[in-house]
Amino acid sequence: MNSYRTTLRRVTRSLQITARGLATAAAEPVQAAKAPRMKQFQIYRWSPDDPTSKPRMQTYNVDLNACGPMMLDALLKIKNEQDSTLTLRRSCREGICGSCAMNINGTNTLACLCRINTDTAQTTKVYPLPHMFVVKDLVPDLTQFYKQYKSIKPFLQRSEYPADGKETLQSIEDRKKLDGLYECILCACCSTSCPSYWWNQSEYLGPAILLQTYRWLADSRDHATEERKLALQNSMSLYRCHTIMNCSKTCPKGLNPGLAIARIKKSMAL
Ligand code: SF4
Ligand code: F3S
Ligand code: FES
Repeated sequence: MNSYRTTLRRVTRSLQITARGLATAAAEPVQAAKAPRMKQFQIYRWSPDDPTSKPRMQTYNVDLNACGPMMLDALLKIKNEQDSTLTLRRSCREGICGSCAMNINGTNTLACLCRINTDTAQTTKVYPLPHMFVVKDLVPDLTQFYKQYKSIKPFLQRSEYPADGKETLQSIEDRKKLDGLYECILCACCSTSCPSYWWNQSEYLGPAILLQTYRWLADSRDHATEERKLALQNSMSLYRCHTIMNCSKTCPKGLNPGLAIARIKKSMAL
């Protein structure tokens, strides 16, 4: 009899709790649908399909409430939902591949690492990397950039190998000398922000390729130091850097190509 009463009390209490919960839920106002936050983007457009046409800026409006937080999210949303002809490069969407480099509101950066300016009163302007030939829309022609990269022989060169045929070891201290260099993803943001590179692109290597050059000069395992320095011993490849430092200011990976160039110049002087 006692156990019957206890069970009855428990059932009654749980019914009271459920009823209270339902009453509270009914009293809560229905959440209002979010008002759209429309943001305007102006994007550089040019297509080789119509070579006589002039480059133009095209305007798109995106609801920030229905879009991810990064510029790459906005660009892909425009491409997927409004205009599939908009052309851009991207791959990793996390600042590793370097392919989404472009000029956003006057700064060279990676679209996938650049937050959208959420001030809807301001228009965001997007251009391809400056002073480069354009393949289409936001895609720059990097042929010369990669040719210059190839020219510095960006690989380990040794005159001899360990007798046991195993790895070429490096001390922890020597390995540390590569920090701030090996992280470069060759996005070209720095080179295309450098006025010296704008005007002397055919001969001046530019900050990205010089940082990569220093990455091999600084590597204790590399035996081609003299050969690498000799290739820089002319008035254009290295010495067109006039320490303007746009390169270090704009690098989206927080690297300092200007410092790497200064270190090359110092080692050349020594
Ligand atoms: Fe890009 Fe920075 Fe490397 Fe220049 S140094 S190519 S900006 S990652
Ligand atoms: Fe150019 Fe950077 Fe030298 S911006 S001039 S490469 S310090
Ligand atoms: Fe790879 Fe932006 S998509 S760096």
